[in-house]
Amino acid sequence: MSSVPLKHMEIAPYYWFDGAIARREKIVVDPFAHGLHYGTGVFEGIRAYATPRGPGIFRLRDHMERFARSAKVYSLNLRWDVNELCAAIVETLVRNELESAYIRPLAFFGEKTISLAPVRHCPTHVLLAFRALGNYFGAGQENGIRVAISPWRKFSSQALPSTVKGCGHYANSVLAMTDATERGFDEAILLNDRGEVAEGTGENVFVVKDGVLRTNDASADILLGVTRASVLELAKDLRIPVEIGPLSTGDLAAADEVFFTGTAAEVTPLQCIDDRVYPAERPVTTALRAAYMRAVTGDDPHHGDWVTFARERGVVARAV
Ligand SMILES: Cc1ncc(COP(=O)(O)O)c(C=O)c1O
Repeated sequence: MSSVPLKHMEIAPYYWFDGAIARREKIVVDPFAHGLHYGTGVFEGIRAYATPRGPGIFRLRDHMERFARSAKVYSLNLRWDVNELCAAIVETLVRNELESAYIRPLAFFGEKTISLAPVRHCPTHVLLAFRALGNYFGAGQENGIRVAISPWRKFSSQALPSTVKGCGHYANSVLAMTDATERGFDEAILLNDRGEVAEGTGENVFVVKDGVLRTNDASADILLGVTRASVLELAKDLRIPVEIGPLSTGDLAAADEVFFTGTAAEVTPLQCIDDRVYPAERPVTTALRAAYMRAVTGDDPHHGDWVTFARERGVVARAV
């Protein structure tokens, strides 16, 4: 039994693996796991925020529904339904005594074959991993980050389904992020194969022009972010006009404000894209960021149902 609160530790001691809570070091993955070799898995990234009512998990069900949809596309057999996986996340979070956390559900094909038809041979493993996560881009990210347009293009949805959070899809993001950070930037924006703006390596892109908020949709080969959907609802609450449609590099250049959304990135303003520097005054981004940070801790009465308060679920956590 762990009795030490873990809020300052990076990695949590208890994970959930294939139906049971286990200590992290007891979880064994075969070196020939298919997912390790070919990226044949799907995952989610979810945050739990510290609140006066204990850890609150932001849009847990929405994330786990996307997880189930992603798994289906890759024919991964989850064995647990969305309700059961949500309950397992709550139980393991409570077991870890975490006040806040980054939660990483992962389903992947395991051992047995090097064949590229894993569905016929390999078991599906499901892991729920927990760790701490502060500012994704580090201290001061709320003042803006420096972003490069990537020389790598976003994969076409005709090659891989962009709305699926597939493990192997992130090789594209890794190449773009590596290039950007090697050149001294914090992040990259990928254009799709038609040269339109797609998204960041792990974020959706919004621009503000003359008070109108604009973002693209799945037709631009993006992952449809849960944060993106939340920000669109918050914009409606704040009566900010919204347009959904393709974004060009010209739209980025002409914008008054540009920001990223994502579970890890939250709402992060862009200071510059390559040589284009944006004004430090960003009223729309600032208002939406504040609204988002209220919503994630359950402080927005209009969206109380977005937050699952883990300790109030009355779960009796048991370790194996
Ligand atoms: C490629 C990509 N786009 C967008 C997002 C934002 O998605 P969400 O807001 O659901 O975290 C993510 C993060 O998961 C991502 O990896």
